[in-house]
Amino acid sequence: MPIIEAIRTRTSNALMTEQDVDPDLIRQILDVAVCSPVHHKTDPWRFLVIRGEGRNNLGRVMADHLAREMEEPDSPKNVRFLGKIRKKAFRAPVIIVAGAAKSDKDQVLMCEDVATVSASCQNILLAAKALGLSAFWRTGGLTYSRDTVVSLGFEEGTELVGFIYLGHPKKQMPAKVRQTSEKFTRWMNE
Ligand SMILES: Cc1cc2nc3c(=O)[nH]c(=O)nc-3n(C[C@H](O)[C@H](O)[C@H](O)COP(=O)(O)O)c2cc1C
Repeated sequence: MPIIEAIRTRTSNALMTEQDVDPDLIRQILDVAVCSPVHHKTDPWRFLVIRGEGRNNLGRVMADHLAREMEEPDSPKNVRFLGKIRKKAFRAPVIIVAGAAKSDKDQVLMCEDVATVSASCQNILLAAKALGLSAFWRTGGLTYSRDTVVSLGFEEGTELVGFIYLGHPKKQMPAKVRQTSEKFTRWMNE
């Protein structure tokens, strides 16, 4: 499929079966993720692939994040709620957590490495489409918390960019009617 058509017809799809994704396919996807452009050769890409029982760890991190903000996390109501949150890690057979490593190079702006990893996330979504998989990019407050970085075993200072849920589609999503760029664009021709 020509790349322009692939980009145009890609849609996020959170509806996935429980069927696992072949690790070789995941490696193929991550190998194109690290094809994103990068400034200063920082190699900022950091990925964590969570699957199978590993999703219990993610569920715990998600629940702990919310529990820290609760006055009474042990109340029966909150315990029930946090139980539901833990199950959210099981919405997909695979979750790829993408982060940008903190660089030691003085001239490096962190926002550039985050831009590189953001481009990787789009590469992941497009690769998933090319391989017939469904994918959904999620974030939320959890993503930007230092506790999450540490709990998921990333190095301190890593900026998490996304949790990409990946799986086999339960249902194909129709292509969306997209906007044109006109209203977002100014041209300076002279
Ligand atoms: C950085 C980023 C974070 C996102 N986080 C969430 C999220 O936490 N929950 C959610 O429902 N959608 C989230 N989205 C939106 C979906 O991933 C998706 O892009 C959106 O629903 C539009 O669908 P489309 O990709 O088919 O255009 C996020 C998108 C981006 C780019």
